[in-house]
Amino acid sequence: MRSPSAVVVVASLVCSTITWAPARAQSPAPDAGVGRDLAAKLCSNCHLTDEIGGTAPRADVPSFAAIANSPRTTPETLAAAIILPHPEMPGIALTRAEIRHLIAYVVSLKK
Ligand code: HEC
Repeated sequence: MRSPSAVVVVASLVCSTITWAPARAQSPAPDAGVGRDLAAKLCSNCHLTDEIGGTAPRADVPSFAAIANSPRTTPETLAAAIILPHPEMPGIALTRAEIRHLIAYVVSLKK
């Protein structure tokens, strides 16, 4: 079981990174286009990662569009879901920049 406080700590670490990002010259701005390519490469085994729709690779896994449009999704819940590998999701080692790109992409799918 994940401890809720650990999730909050991790999520707030990432979110403070997001807030501070523009102040750091070497840290690239979150780019939804980069996030889209990462999602297609790393997440599309299980998730439907396209905004266009189509057939989900696995019926039991929510599409990224569905996640983006869920009322309970925030950048914090996304960060937590991506950083703390969810059940069955292999522990994919992502850099902070990659996590920010992925979050930017999922958020961009919100209608
Ligand atoms: C091996 C299959 C698999 C892969 C690969 C995978 N996921 Fe998931 N993902 C799942 C399953 C199953 C769920 C639903 C169960 C859950 O939420 O714990 C899920 C749920 C999620 C959620 C929603 C959690 C919520 O709050 O509802 C997010 C966000 C997510 N995945 C992001 C990603 C990202 C980003 C990647 C690629 C880096 C990825 N996943 C790769 C299986 C996978």
